[in-house]
Amino acid sequence: MPLRLPCLRWFALCLFSSSVLAVSPDGVVSVSHPAAAAAGARMLAAGGNAIDAAAAVQFALNVVEPQSSGIGGGGFMMVYLAKTGETFVVDSRERAPAKASADMFAPDGLAMPFPLASTSGLAVGVPGTLRGVDTALRRWGTKKLADTLVPAIELAERGFRVNRFLAQDIVNDSGRTQLYPETAAIFRPNGVPLAEGDWLVQRDLANTLKRIAAEGPDAFYRGAIARAIIKAQQRTRDELGTAGQGRMGLADLAQYRVAIRKPLIGQYRGWTLATMPPPSSGGLTMLQMLGLLERVPLGDASQGYGFGSPNTLHAMTEAMRLAFADRAVWIGDDDAVPVPRAGLLHPGYLATRSALIRMDGRMDTPQAGDPKPWDPTAVRPAPSRAPAESLQTTHFAVVDRWGNVVSYTSTIEFTWGSGITVPGHGFLLNNELTDFNFVPGFDAAAGNPGANDVSPGKRPRSSMAPTMLFRNGKPVAAWGSPGGATIINSVFNVTLNLIDHGMTMQQAIIAPRLSVTHAAGRISCEGGEAFMRPRISVAAQDALRALGHAGLGEAGTDGCMDTIGSVQAVVIDPATGLHHGAADPRREGTVIRVKP
Ligand code: GLY
Repeated sequence: MPLRLPCLRWFALCLFSSSVLAVSPDGVVSVSHPAAAAAGARMLAAGGNAIDAAAAVQFALNVVEPQSSGIGGGGFMMVYLAKTGETFVVDSRERAPAKASADMFAPDGLAMPFPLASTSGLAVGVPGTLRGVDTALRRWGTKKLADTLVPAIELAERGFRVNRFLAQDIVNDSGRTQLYPETAAIFRPNGVPLAEGDWLVQRDLANTLKRIAAEGPDAFYRGAIARAIIKAQQRTRDELGTAGQGRMGLADLAQYRVAIRKPLIGQYRGWTLATMPPPSSGGLTMLQMLGLLERVPLGDASQGYGFGSPNTLHAMTEAMRLAFADRAVWIGDDDAVPVPRAGLLHPGYLATRSALIRMDGRMDTPQAGDPKPWDPTAVRPAPSRAPAESLQTTHFAVVDRWGNVVSYTSTIEFTWGSGITVPGHGFLLNNELTDFNFVPGFDAAAGNPGANDVSPGKRPRSSMAPTMLFRNGKPVAAWGSPGGATIINSVFNVTLNLIDHGMTMQQAIIAPRLSVTHAAGRISCEGGEAFMRPRISVAAQDALRALGHAGLGEAGTDGCMDTIGSVQAVVIDPATGLHHGAADPRREGTVIRVKP
């Protein structure tokens, strides 16, 4: 794909000069899989709006990227409505069932082993994706739910060609496609993993989607599919016995409700960002990182802060470590436990935290800060043990001819979720409840509210961060990423690339990313894939090593060999009204424009 020369940073609108050919006034869809992108484009071409297209994409992803998201999971759909200028988030995060308890992953005070707990029914949260999509369609869509299911039903019934990424995920499944026979039967027929190029037909899934099309979401949340879900989540790994069985009942499914939220709004160098509030940590943590670095002249090569320079990479790393220290302590589902949002984003608080960043060396492992002076609601909890987080999930973006925009991240948590396919119904169940603290942090004596402890009806803390960038009150770009806790860093990297480094959206996506997800953390950095450019040089890596950073291996070697996230984006040029798309070659990212 041809790259333009980097734009000059003072050309504030250079992100619109996308190198992608898909430019249209009539809508663009950007998705991690071409068949799902085609499903969305089909809705737009048939006169549907961005919400209709998003519904079709999400259902199609359940078929062609089943390891990442689907009706057995949850997600966050950010919607900008051109007519009113409002932005909402449909929060369809999975919820803990009524019988969940804070100690359920540590019944004897000791955390269950993650590989066992996360592949047992106990990990399955009440799924929200279908209710979320249906709610969005009812509020803002123009098509019927059944119409948006048609492309997914066709893909499941007629089949599709397995791509490299699905084939790799089957082989590198950490056992999850092999644990339960219904999952193995789909992805390892006769014990042989599906390979790239194989044809995959999913008849059970097609029938499930047809039933939902005919009967509506109640077919899933009540009735036969609901009963099958309840039975399936009683599966448990032998080692855990009945302690590993799911606690969801029919009433949990029947009573599942989405939340409609206002996005979290932040500013960075004159740009406005709308991003994901709690129960995700994604938006708060990303806005904290940006706030910590606003005083740093990122992007100014003459001061040593160009893309990939040691100064830039060091400052990014330290901001990530500080923000992740706060995340581990302060952020959870604030419908259940208050999160001191105002304090965590207060310029005074961020200034004291930013002052901890020294340019001459790596700081000692930072503790979470105390935003109480800036936010009287803050009650300082003790740190909790961070749960393991997977690198999966999926993100897509859509803009339609009227200027409505959707930025949607959805998941079943780990790659392959719990590994449990609902027998006879062909979809995987999530393991989202393992995003909660395994060992409860609540401690009344210490004033620890247990921000991310399990409790009935609560949503586990997420990292998902569907984001939109606004200029003069109108969205100019929308993006997001999969990748567990690295989601936050992928969205952060792309934001810096756009605003500080003056890249086009496609360049911002292709550029190698840097990630640290713990205060004590080691750097993980990209560079293994040939398309990632400009590279992060070995000299820059050596400079980071000299500053005391770990994770890059031996001096003089290239330690940037990771792959982080998969960013899909749309861009709207306010000057021309044209829509651009940009997609990530880290998966089969695809942009489709609607032809006028
Ligand atoms: N399970 C991934 C996330 O919510 O961030």
